Amino acid sequence: MEQLNRRKFLTYVGTGVTALTVASTGLGALTEKVSAAEKVKANSHLFGFKKKVSGLGFTPIDVSTKDELRLPKGYKYDVIAAYGDKINKKGDTFGFNNDFTMFFPIDGSNDRGLLWVNHEYSSELFVHGKKQGDTYTKSQIEKLLYNQGGSIIEVYRDSEGIWKMDTDSKYARRITGLTPFNLTGPAKGSKTVGGATTVQGTFANCSGGMTPWNTVLSAEENYEYTAADAGLNDTHYGWIVEVDPFNEKFTPRKHTALGRFHHENAAVGTTNDGRIVVYMGDDKKDACVYKFISKYKYVKSRGTDNSKLLEEGTLYVADMKNGKWLPLTIDAVREAAKGDSELLDKFQTQADVLVHTHDAAILLGGTPTDRPEDVEISPFDKTVFIAHTNNDKHGNIHGHITRFIEEKDDLGSLTFDFQIFAAGGSQNGFSAPDNLTFDSEGNLWTVTDMSGSAMNKGVFTSFGNNGIYVIPTMGENQGEAYRFATAPVDSEITGPCFTPDETTLFVAVQHPGERSKDLNNLTSMWPHRSGDTMPRPAVVAITGFKY
Ligand code: FEO
Ligand code: CA
Ligand code: CA
Repeated sequence: MEQLNRRKFLTYVGTGVTALTVASTGLGALTEKVSAAEKVKANSHLFGFKKKVSGLGFTPIDVSTKDELRLPKGYKYDVIAAYGDKINKKGDTFGFNNDFTMFFPIDGSNDRGLLWVNHEYSSELFVHGKKQGDTYTKSQIEKLLYNQGGSIIEVYRDSEGIWKMDTDSKYARRITGLTPFNLTGPAKGSKTVGGATTVQGTFANCSGGMTPWNTVLSAEENYEYTAADAGLNDTHYGWIVEVDPFNEKFTPRKHTALGRFHHENAAVGTTNDGRIVVYMGDDKKDACVYKFISKYKYVKSRGTDNSKLLEEGTLYVADMKNGKWLPLTIDAVREAAKGDSELLDKFQTQADVLVHTHDAAILLGGTPTDRPEDVEISPFDKTVFIAHTNNDKHGNIHGHITRFIEEKDDLGSLTFDFQIFAAGGSQNGFSAPDNLTFDSEGNLWTVTDMSGSAMNKGVFTSFGNNGIYVIPTMGENQGEAYRFATAPVDSEITGPCFTPDETTLFVAVQHPGERSKDLNNLTSMWPHRSGDTMPRPAVVAITGFKY
């Protein structure tokens, strides 16, 4: 058994949940945890992965409160696209508050490709200009909707090694709160979505994922506000949407079989028998972790027709107390609701279960957790990492990263074990883990999202601004965090995505200067472009990774 060092002990104690376990059962519970860690270690084979660049080949940087995107020595970044920039010849513009990014190589290139970028929310001060207390004008609602959704931009690395946007691109276009979408799956056309088979637009697009058939999944998270402001039916939002960045004829769609909640992202994998599995977190206090398993198997030669796999299957919620994935079926929900006429009235069809996923999940015994943000599948051992960002409702102030170990390493298993992989707190140097991605060395790249009002105050002082951290998932330093970047004032860094050769890391800097009171009192001017008069969310390419 691995000896538990003091630092690791403190790490475990730092998380509210485990602290309770320690207090109630003594060190026996920790012995269990260490055994799980040993199991993970034994499973940590590289599955033919060729190490590309050294993810840990940098000197970690200090905390910062400065209005800059600070990187370790030897690394630099290029601003590719900022809010309001023209992205194509038609004159479409880059949306606000960029989040998830996903790089799609063109002809296998690591130097040219399409970059999908989510746009999560809008701003009164910087976008539509509505004053508090006023009602929206038609043009303000249009701006509100246009600047959310997604951007498809073409990006390339020029002969000098600088990443730029190609505005002559034939692919570049916007998906917005005004774009028509098809609904798919059990809730399509159902009473509970007002009979709709098509809906208007996507917004609140937080993080996402990529399918094996090369389309993008984008997650609608805090949809209520925009739906209410724009007078739209909120059952048409809170879904996972799918877009083919290369093909405008592929109608954007919302897959109701994957449930409706505050979707953070969608991590796609395959079960051992070839079905598609999608892991998802519901980013809300005391909300659950889900996975969808398709009914049918993935067939590579079918290309984007595989999208149909996301229309039929079973949605499961994680019961972490029993290590079980519970199927969210109408029969199970009605059985659990027996004797409660209000619930029986609410849940009459599978569409009702999907539209009210969280309520159904809690009814069946899904475990309420501490704001599950990004979920990612380790490409090395198929363990599943979940960023539980924090939950001040019961003392998990700095959050933690949970690791699910599926039975027999099969993503199709309906039983699992889990451990707390890393905990936020001053002992580890980070707070509020959010988006996650892996490099080929098995390091987990983690960005943080402390809120603007909390940052650099009280128990958050020691963390400085938000940042990027690199956490090994195997070897003797597993679970320890190394600071790679610090973010401009008021911002969070989101959407980390490597090119396949890992020589470039794309990230989005979201809401710099968010706490500015007015345009004459700005807290940030990032990205400090000459001639600019306000801060702008922007996507950047970080280079300097060494072979
Ligand atoms: Fe949009 Fe949960 O962060
Ligand atoms: Ca997020
Ligand atoms: Ca967040």
